[in-house]
This record gives sequence, C-alpha cells and structure tokens, in this order.
Amino acid sequence: MKPMRGLFVVGTDTGVGKTIVTAALTAALRAENRNVGIWKPVQSGNLLGSGATDAERLLQYTGLNEQPETVATFTFEAPLAPLQAAKQAGVTFTLQELRHAGEHLLHRYESLLIEGAGGAAVPLTDESLMAGFMAELRVPALIVARSGLGTINHTLLTISYLRQHGVSILGFILNQGEPVDLNADPSAATNAMWIERYSGIPFLGRFPYLQNEINTAALIDAARESIRLETIQQALSNFKELRGKSYDDKSK
Ligand SMILES: Nc1ncnc2c1ncn2[C@@H]1O[C@H](COP(=O)(O)OP(=O)(O)OP(=O)(O)O)[C@@H](O)[C@H]1O
Ligand SMILES: [Mg+2]
Repeated sequence: MKPMRGLFVVGTDTGVGKTIVTAALTAALRAENRNVGIWKPVQSGNLLGSGATDAERLLQYTGLNEQPETVATFTFEAPLAPLQAAKQAGVTFTLQELRHAGEHLLHRYESLLIEGAGGAAVPLTDESLMAGFMAELRVPALIVARSGLGTINHTLLTISYLRQHGVSILGFILNQGEPVDLNADPSAATNAMWIERYSGIPFLGRFPYLQNEINTAALIDAARESIRLETIQQALSNFKELRGKSYDDKSK
C-alpha cells in the first residue's frame, strides 16, 4: 500500500489542541499557496449541524470550502472513543473503508492534514487502535501535546507507542491550551528540551494561547510565529523521502 500524502496529527490525549493546531497549520500552509486539505476520519461527541464537531470547527477556522460530511468520514453523537461511539450507533467500519474515504478526499488536494481522535492508543475498530490505522495509512505523525507539567511523560509514551507500531514521527508541537504561568508551572520552560533529549524527535514549536477570538487570521499569525512551518511543508512535499529518513531512529 502506498503512503498516503499527508501528516497525521495525533494528540497525547483528548482536548490537547489537535483541532486548533491542525486548523492553524492548514490555514498557514494554504496561505502559502499549498493545496492542503483536512480529514477527520472519525469524530464523536456531537452531531453534524451542531457546529461543534471538529469537522465544522476545522472548516470554520480554515475557511476551506468543503462539506463537513466529506471532511469527517464518520460522525457519532456519543462522547466516547470512536469504536465505542460507533458501536452505540450500530455502525461498523474497517480501516480499508476509512482509508478509501481519505483517498477520495485526496483527489482534490496535494496532501491532507489528518486529525486523529484522542490519542495513539484509542480504540478505532475491534482489531485496531489509532496507531494501527496510522501505520496502515503509512503516513508520518505530528504529535500535539500539552505544554505543561505531565507532558514529558505523555509525549514520550506516545513516541514510544508510535515507534512500536512502525509509524514515522516528524516532530512534536506543544500547545498552550491555557495561559502559561511559569511561576505556577516552571516545567513549561524546559519540557520541549527534555522531550527532544530523551526521544531525538524534533520540537517544531510552542503554539501560543489565543486569548482573543479564534479566527483564520489569528491562527495563521500564531502558526507563522511559533511553528517550524518549513519542516512541515517539506514533509508534505517529500512524504516519500520522509519515510526513508531516520527522524525516529535516534534512540535505536
Ligand atoms: N492555543 C489555544 N488557545 C486558546 N484556546 C485553545 C488553544 N488550544 C486549545 N484551545 C481550546 O481548548 C479546547 C480543546 O482544544 P481542541 O478542540 O483543539 O483539542 P483536541 O485535541 O482537538 O480535542 P479532541 O480530542 O476533542 O479532538 C478547545 O475549546 C479549544 O478552543
Ligand atoms: Mg479535535
């Protein structure tokens, strides 16, 4: 199976800022004339039409002209992991069916930023967790993690788990989902350095807390100021070469 053209944005947990960061990266890359699309294979917790689903938020934040049901292959109402939410809705799907939906979407884009659900070890089908799906897509991972205390542990565990599943890792982004107070949490100043040191995975930036309205312009500015966009652009252009490189080999 050929690698899918894209990057898989995987979180260290639910609610760490995958949607915000995915939207910001997509909007910033599109502003550089890169025809990047977005894909949320499975979402749960809200129904389409509510405006609260990730697909609808991604479209709102990026201004991309797509239907939410095309961006999100499956949407389930229950606030559960994809597998459990699907079971509750009486729906089953396979990794191959999901992959085909992504490939169909990819016809209109040069590459896709793919937002996972929760983290790497979240149940997706009866046989597979999210990391298994990422391996099946053969797409590199971009990890989004919290910036504060606890993130070294969560990020290193995620890196180790993805490596076990043979998923290449481009880098990690620390997202400031809340205002940072270095007095209350001095770890925020050095977490990235420790994660890089222990894993060898490149730090691609600290996405800032956005205290004002979150809109496309604010997301583009924040991404340009905080993220190593050229590394992400390069990965999206040279996705085949990336798989041959040793981004994730340093600790072996
Ligand atoms: N940098 C930020 N600045 C301001 N608010 C943020 C930031 N990052 C995240 N948030 C807010 O925190 C909440 C969780 O973020 P987000 O929805 O992006 O997380 P997620 O990892 O995509 O969650 P899920 O697992 O549900 O997909 C949202 O309300 C979002 O608006
Ligand atoms: Mg999300």
